[in-house]
Amino acid sequence: MRVGILTGGGDCPGLNAAIRAAVKSGIAKGCQLVGIIDSFNGLFERPTRTSLLGLEDVSDILDKGGTILGTHNEGSPFGEKPEENILRLREAMSELDLAGLIVIGGEGTQGIAGELAATGVPVIGIPKTIDNDLPGTDQTIGFKSCVNLVADSVMRLRSTAESHDRIMVLEVMGRDSGYIALHGGLAGGANVILIPEIPFDVKRIQKKILERKNIGRNFSVVVVSEGATEKGGEAIYKEELGGAKTLGGVGVQVAQKLHSLCDMDVRVTVLGHLQRGGSPCPEDRILATRFAVYAVDLALKKRFNRLVVLKGQQVSDTPYSEVSRFQRRKLLPSDEILRAAEAISVCLGR
Ligand code: F6P
Repeated sequence: MRVGILTGGGDCPGLNAAIRAAVKSGIAKGCQLVGIIDSFNGLFERPTRTSLLGLEDVSDILDKGGTILGTHNEGSPFGEKPEENILRLREAMSELDLAGLIVIGGEGTQGIAGELAATGVPVIGIPKTIDNDLPGTDQTIGFKSCVNLVADSVMRLRSTAESHDRIMVLEVMGRDSGYIALHGGLAGGANVILIPEIPFDVKRIQKKILERKNIGRNFSVVVVSEGATEKGGEAIYKEELGGAKTLGGVGVQVAQKLHSLCDMDVRVTVLGHLQRGGSPCPEDRILATRFAVYAVDLALKKRFNRLVVLKGQQVSDTPYSEVSRFQRRKLLPSDEILRAAEAISVCLGR
């Protein structure tokens, strides 16, 4: 059997670990993996942008950030003419003798894969995204590596904040879901954590910071998700070079308000794409390996149109029909982890 493998959407640590595990376990079990470059786009430009992956292609990549297959932030690759392009994709698959595709991606890419699955293209999905916001799975590849970085950043900010009696605001990724801010903030000892699921009230944050001052803690660290909003306010976007609009700026907004409300020195750090790069943590290497081995096993059993997921401690699979495009997993305001944060007096801005 021969299947294609591709990575789509924003990169994250652990993609190479997944590709490596798919190729290694595939070769051992009689499934050849064809690497497709730059997401689905590579299929339209075969054969130059596809190649059979051997053991030598995946040696020494377990700990490498990024993806050896390249990636692309979709937009659907099927554009204005979806039927025609899906037909082209099927032709490409049959020319390359692919029994199916293993698609490593987040909500956007898996949404596209799900649409393909619905038209009968045999697909198996592996969930990845630092945001951890893909429905159906408890964890995605990349999330834990990102949390490690955020936690480390919070701890670094705590020490400099304490020396200077400052408020430090750290803006992290997470468009619609606060998993990165919450987990990274909790692990690093942040005093305030603001997430998209809970619109924040700056007066609450002011109260928390002044309470700390009253007990001699003259500094505070605030972690804010890029998608967090003030009560009654809207998400803040910035324009990238080239014109693309991306989330960003809420950290500065929060800092300005706290500066005048608390009469303290404030500094802002935006962690940005540092969160997407670098070597995966051991937990992500292991998760990526388990997901990829499971995906190859599904392919060998011809159980397509499934997304590999983690439920509790168990890797399993779920039909694509349960994961629709543009749907994101979110924290619930009543989640136990949010209550735990508040129980140790972390301010969530509510
Ligand atoms: O999907 C992960 C993510 O990191 C989001 O949190 C963030 O908004 C986005 O990607 C940024 O992506 P890019 O800069 O590649 O468009």
